[in-house]
Amino acid sequence: MAGLWPEDVVAGMALLAAGGMGWRMVAGRRRAATEDPGSDPARAAPPSADALSRMIEVLDLVPAAILVLDAGGRILHAGPGAWELFGDSLGAIVRHPAAQSALLRLHEGDRAEVDMVLDVPVRRAVRAQFRRVDIGRGESVVLATLLDVSEQDAVERMRTDFVAYASHELRTPLAALTGFIETLRGPAADDPPAQQRFLGVMAGQAARMQRLLDRLLMLSRVQMSEHRKPRGQVNPAAVIARVRDETAPLLDGGPATLHIDMADDLPSFPGDSDQVVQVLLNLIENAIKYGSGESDRAVRIGLRVRQAAPSAMVGVDVGATGGARNGIAFAVTDNGPGIEARHLPRLTERFYRVEGTAARRTGTGLGLAIVKHIIDRHDGRLTIDSVVGRGTAFTVWFPLAG
Ligand SMILES: Nc1ncnc2c1ncn2[C@@H]1O[C@H](COP(=O)(O)OP(=O)(O)OP(=O)(O)O)[C@@H](O)[C@H]1O
Ligand SMILES: [Mg+2]
Repeated sequence: MAGLWPEDVVAGMALLAAGGMGWRMVAGRRRAATEDPGSDPARAAPPSADALSRMIEVLDLVPAAILVLDAGGRILHAGPGAWELFGDSLGAIVRHPAAQSALLRLHEGDRAEVDMVLDVPVRRAVRAQFRRVDIGRGESVVLATLLDVSEQDAVERMRTDFVAYASHELRTPLAALTGFIETLRGPAADDPPAQQRFLGVMAGQAARMQRLLDRLLMLSRVQMSEHRKPRGQVNPAAVIARVRDETAPLLDGGPATLHIDMADDLPSFPGDSDQVVQVLLNLIENAIKYGSGESDRAVRIGLRVRQAAPSAMVGVDVGATGGARNGIAFAVTDNGPGIEARHLPRLTERFYRVEGTAARRTGTGLGLAIVKHIIDRHDGRLTIDSVVGRGTAFTVWFPLAG
């Protein structure tokens, strides 16, 4: 069956059904909705009616979006699958310039595949496979099999956007490094104090590239595991102990303090402990980094762990999947500058950073994207609640088993 097109199967069934039949008019069938008077099946000269009617009866049993067109490319019949999937857009699909030019060039026994994008009422990518089949007495029709490829199209666009963004983000520090190398070779060749200064900046840019690559690799690993549900059990107390250890060097001597408040005897939940620790580290790192704004003011970071239903969570929901089940909620709060409401739904997008903050210069914009993918893998939930001037709360919820 390898290499067989869906429209091969359709054409095969159609030919079987049409074989040896006489002519009969197709009466009382639902016609495709199309404003083009030229496409009105009532006006189209009927080809071998009996063969056609028999063919259509069989085609209507095939669970695919199928159209039967006359030799001029006008719709003679739209199968139930086509109606269900494309409804009123069928006329627009057949009239699409790409489809029309493929139909004009279609000879007997030929087939053609056309990809097209419909922009109204919503963007939709459609792949049409056409095949002209002989139905006897010198007549032929065109069978069209339609596929909705919008999802693949969106994934493909996201992939290309991602590559463009990632290369843009890497290009900026790379351009700075190249510039400084030129300066060190030329104007600053005999200026040791300037050399030291430039080398310091260069080390910073190299570290930025390193961090970006580390984040990209982490994101790609998380995405690769996203469709495999985690098999382990996560003990909240053990997670908090690791988070306390791993954040100690970040907090040491800085303006931020971490206050942990954990309910007693919290049950374990299904998940990947390393990933849950990663989520909390990313959130606490953000609270440390952005909590003090441009100043060095003291930041109080809270980490509160409770057993809760997702309905108890407040704030903007970012990609919720959790139902009404019970689970474990980790809330990371800070008393920093807060985030304007309009940014909240977009924070988990890759490379999204809030304009005009320290984040534009220091962050990669990937930390919360990683958080979101990990939470999705766990069927969990993330809400963000922020008040400008008061602070921000990120709450992560993981379901308990059952
Ligand atoms: N606690 C917070 N307070 C204020 N703004 C925040 C806070 N957490 C996140 N943000 C904003 O959300 C943006 C996205 O955060 P995210 O963690 O995804 O990326 P990043 O911190 O810029 O990069 P990375 O985490 O990879 O270093 C940040 O750039 C920042 O503008
Ligand atoms: Mg971050």
